[in-house]
Amino acid sequence: MQKASLQWRRSGKRVVLVPTMGALHEGHAALIRRAKQLGDRVVVSSYVNPTQFNQNKDYRRYPKRPSQDAKIAKAAGADVLFRPAQLYAPDASTWVVEMDQSKGRCGKHRPNHFRGVATVVTKLFGILQPDVAVFGEKDLQQCEVVERLARDLFLPIRVVRHPTVREKDGLAMSSRNLRLNPHQRELAGFWALSVRAAARKGAAGARAHLKKLLRRLKGVRLEYVEVTGGYLCAAAWVGPVRLIDNRKCGMK
Ligand code: PAF
Repeated sequence: MQKASLQWRRSGKRVVLVPTMGALHEGHAALIRRAKQLGDRVVVSSYVNPTQFNQNKDYRRYPKRPSQDAKIAKAAGADVLFRPAQLYAPDASTWVVEMDQSKGRCGKHRPNHFRGVATVVTKLFGILQPDVAVFGEKDLQQCEVVERLARDLFLPIRVVRHPTVREKDGLAMSSRNLRLNPHQRELAGFWALSVRAAARKGAAGARAHLKKLLRRLKGVRLEYVEVTGGYLCAAAWVGPVRLIDNRKCGMK
């Protein structure tokens, strides 16, 4: 993969990376279509990165749909679906740790999660040396961490954020949604609506409003809610599935 990518770059092609953990959905397809506009060769990586999971159970249960992934990636315009078997040597001993943007929110509730993300993204950047990499804004803190690491390490890679793609009822698309049963899926829709309604209250009132709305929604357990950088960011559990979301939040 590295040879192919270097050859493309030498022949003047712009390489765009869309990093994923597979189980592709319409949200990923939107990232791939965006990538297509930003360069000449689009590589979609699919690798369920063990080091970013805090629970082994969550890692093992992460959905896998390789044949469907290939179809979705191709239809959206990917040139290559890169599925490395392993990105860690048995004696791998190097971590990439971002120390500021990864504090708080998901960083607080998922110890070492962003260390795993920063490390694997740096490995993918090293393999592909892309001109551009596209990340979904659903994982807002992840975007912030990757932007900071690219800046701090002087990586000549443009990190592009793509807006969150949502289901009809407002639920942010995520591979994890596949693990919700029909009742939980309905609750997840109400969770998304609650986040939107809370954000509309403006920065000062959003947190309290979300807490109030979710107290009434049995079956949704709020993990955190914070307003930061003009966004309302929250995470909650619906059954065994952890959902995150964020919405722009005005200064009302
Ligand atoms: O957003 C994801 O799917 C993952 O965190 C990423 C960026 C592919 C790293 O494993």
